[in-house]
Amino acid sequence: MSGIIRELPTAARFERVGAHTHIRGLGLDEKGRAAKIKDGMVGQERAREAAGLVVKMIKEGKLAGRLIILAGPPGTGKTAIAVAIARELGLNVPFIEMSGAEVYSTERKKTEILMEAMRKCIGVEIHEMREIYEGEITKLELRTAPHPYNPYQRVVDSAKITLKTAEEERTLEVGEEIAVQLVQMGAREGTVIQIDAETGRVSVLGLSQESSLARQYEVDTKAKVPRPQGKVRKEKEFVYYATLADLDKLAARRRGGGLLFSLLLGAPEEKELSPEIRMEVDRQVKEMVDQGKAFLHPGVLFIDDAHLLDLECFSFISRAIESELAPIVILATNRGFARIRGTDVEAPLGFPPDLLDRAIIIGTETYDEESVREILKIRAVEEDVEIGEEALKKLTKIGAERSLRYAVQLLSIAAEHAKSSGRSKITSEDVDRVDYLFMDVSEAVQHLKKYEELMMKH
Ligand SMILES: Nc1ncnc2c1ncn2[C@@H]1O[C@H](COP(=O)(O)OP(=O)(O)O)[C@@H](O)[C@H]1O
Ligand SMILES: [Mg+2]
Repeated sequence: MSGIIRELPTAARFERVGAHTHIRGLGLDEKGRAAKIKDGMVGQERAREAAGLVVKMIKEGKLAGRLIILAGPPGTGKTAIAVAIARELGLNVPFIEMSGAEVYSTERKKTEILMEAMRKCIGVEIHEMREIYEGEITKLELRTAPHPYNPYQRVVDSAKITLKTAEEERTLEVGEEIAVQLVQMGAREGTVIQIDAETGRVSVLGLSQESSLARQYEVDTKAKVPRPQGKVRKEKEFVYYATLADLDKLAARRRGGGLLFSLLLGAPEEKELSPEIRMEVDRQVKEMVDQGKAFLHPGVLFIDDAHLLDLECFSFISRAIESELAPIVILATNRGFARIRGTDVEAPLGFPPDLLDRAIIIGTETYDEESVREILKIRAVEEDVEIGEEALKKLTKIGAERSLRYAVQLLSIAAEHAKSSGRSKITSEDVDRVDYLFMDVSEAVQHLKKYEELMMKH
């Protein structure tokens, strides 16, 4: 288990989605009411307050295995609200974001991709008591022996090590495996280390504040830690965070053959985990939960543009959220009444009725001019650019009449245009220029229609 000390996946993944960097949360007060403008969010109060309730329930663990649908026209902040939910949930709740289009791969099955995504959303906090040796190294004597294949070279083969805590000092004889780790990790006098009594795994905690080395340099890259309390050998509780997907991988690796096996067969990257491995992981996790050794943190799987999923995916999701270890699933769609992919059936939102039955739906509405204007102002601050009154008026008009998303994008390009002309302020000429250079969707449609006839003839 010690190989899996890692952070839960966090909302940081969203940093790559440049268009939503201004969103810091849902912008609600203690009573769950939305302020008109707060945390980078503007308007859309009903959806934000609904999302606030969802966040509260997720945090209280009351919403696992539930389905939430974000429904609304393009550019009305569905993705923005999902990002805000992730921010509100904080770092301890896994939040995975994908697009409906991502399930289509030639390499892997759709359900496999969904399954993995779901398992990445279930955080497991594992508590383990372990016997360890811990202390500041006060003496380290490495012993070497000739290299087995090269007698001219000497390699570490054992060590004598003295560890000091606030209470005592103890000298240990350690074998090759531990001695090699000590060398590799750069352990020396003054380093505070832990050695797992059972596995022999060494971890370096940092440089002891009390050591002479720590006093020698004022600036050092090594973390300074206090000399450990208590005895050198002791029982200590360790807490690891992993997701079910991490545990699956770990279990799979342990079963597979070693390095030689993979070299011989050319080791294809394992594309699919067998259902048995997952069942085994689930069984072990449930057992640990029953024994009070593990705690589950069901997180959120957000699937944007979920109308791109097909019937097979929907059935899978319906089934999966029924299981004991299920995350909260949020689907976003901009379809009103549409054909369910993979069928000839038309249905509300393009989702199968049985899925809709299980869902709670949050709607987003189109923005008035004032909200568009405020959102653009916030984006300008985020892009670190000033915007003139005329330019803001023009962009607001574009945002309200055509699409908010297009206006947000234009703002970003106009900022670039202004900067490359040596200005820090966007003028209305910048907006005109980039609006002329680029097309919104309806312009692009018109544009292609013009040529369609021409192309048909070829
Ligand atoms: N209520 C809002 N407050 C602040 N920014 C918003 C809001 N709604 C949308 N945005 C921003 O407007 C742009 C378009 O919204 P987006 O969330 O992509 O819409 P959708 O996902 O519904 O198509 C994004 O840059 C988004 O961050
Ligand atoms: Mg979106």
